[in-house]
Amino acid sequence: MNVLIVGSGAREYSLGLSVSKSPQIKQIFFSPGNGATSKIGENINAENIEDLKNIALDKKVDLTIVGSEDRLVEGIVDLFEDNNLTIFGPSKKASRLEGSKEYMKNFLKKYNIPTAKYISSSSSDELNSFIDNNFKDDDLIVVKADGLCAGKGVLICESKDEAKRESSKMLSGESFGDAGKKVIIEEYLDGYELSLFALCDGKNFKLLPAVQDHKKLLDGDKGVNTGGMGAYSPTSLIDDDMYEYIKEKVCTPTLKGMQEEEAPYKGVLFIGLMLVDGKPYVLEYNVRFGDPECQVLMPLLENDTLDLFLKASTNRLNEIELKIRDKKAVCVVLASENYPFKSSIPAKIDVPEINDEDIHISYAGVSLQGDDLMASGGRVLSVVSSDDTLELAVRKAYKVCDEIEFKGKKLRRDIAFQSLKKN
Ligand code: AMP
Ligand code: GLY
Repeated sequence: MNVLIVGSGAREYSLGLSVSKSPQIKQIFFSPGNGATSKIGENINAENIEDLKNIALDKKVDLTIVGSEDRLVEGIVDLFEDNNLTIFGPSKKASRLEGSKEYMKNFLKKYNIPTAKYISSSSSDELNSFIDNNFKDDDLIVVKADGLCAGKGVLICESKDEAKRESSKMLSGESFGDAGKKVIIEEYLDGYELSLFALCDGKNFKLLPAVQDHKKLLDGDKGVNTGGMGAYSPTSLIDDDMYEYIKEKVCTPTLKGMQEEEAPYKGVLFIGLMLVDGKPYVLEYNVRFGDPECQVLMPLLENDTLDLFLKASTNRLNEIELKIRDKKAVCVVLASENYPFKSSIPAKIDVPEINDEDIHISYAGVSLQGDDLMASGGRVLSVVSSDDTLELAVRKAYKVCDEIEFKGKKLRRDIAFQSLKKN
């Protein structure tokens, strides 16, 4: 089978690497891909979803997998399906779960799925009176722009005045343009944040092991937010009972609700959860895999992942028994010198030889200069390792991180610290 993977990050690299192991694979195309995906497939440029559709038709692509949300929210799945192409991802209508926070919060409320108390409005009077009536002076208040803001549209405010100021800056278009024309104010939830992923075929779902992402730049969860500096799975922060509870109280009503909304959910549903005093609250849905979460999930799947994605895309997930390896997986992100503040000067990467099939590197911000692989900015690569225990997986990953060299290499040293401490 020919597979097209849309995107250019370590998430897309790891999807490509995983499906490359399927006995059914013939060729992999990446669009646009990066300096390393060209080693496991062919990179092709596309300007828009129309170009992507033409690539899929031209290269006789049997399955397209979409990495990031923007193309999904734009409607790539509808366009492909109108052209009889098989694609893993939700329709434009279903992608509103990520594309509009107002839609998402109203959906959660309508189907009784636990989430933080909120109001959504485009009137500053309404927002201000919600703030005045629901918060005390020392409460943290969460202010969110309704639309897509590349992960930046959420502010945690320390006073009512700050929350009012930030929401009016959003409404005026000053802070996030059209994405902030509607604003959500919600209560701050203090707990453990987890990422859950369910493969869905519109009706059925298979929940993958829980992942913890490390969004902050610095050790001890300090510093600014990033796209994610590392992840591990499964996490000891949830047990089997909680996992079943999440299936019953979150996944099942979500799938049923989306059917009722005439937007059946197909693809991977990313549920951002906050566990507060042992109870899960949905913070957000995303309509795609997380990065770096995807990098740790792929090695934990014993199934032929190409088969999994294909069955999910064609309403046949119930034909599959999900098989998870009895391992712990960890991913450490190596970022470039100035990440996430500004671009960095390209630097040559030296990578050690790796002879352990439970360790690999998923490449992201890299380019080729002749035969040299260059760190070209952002999150450069992910070192991914799995082993029988989390301790062993972490130790192996950091050994490789230390052996990889490029100027300005930046990483967190404490990935998985909360679960390691708990063991
Ligand atoms: P979102 O895009 O909604 O996931 O928000 C981005 C990040 O903001 C989340 O990953 C959380 O770390 C934080 N966040 C969002 N909503 C809340 C909330 N109600 N309480 C505490 N933190 C939140
Ligand atoms: N790692 C979080 C995300 O992909 O949104």
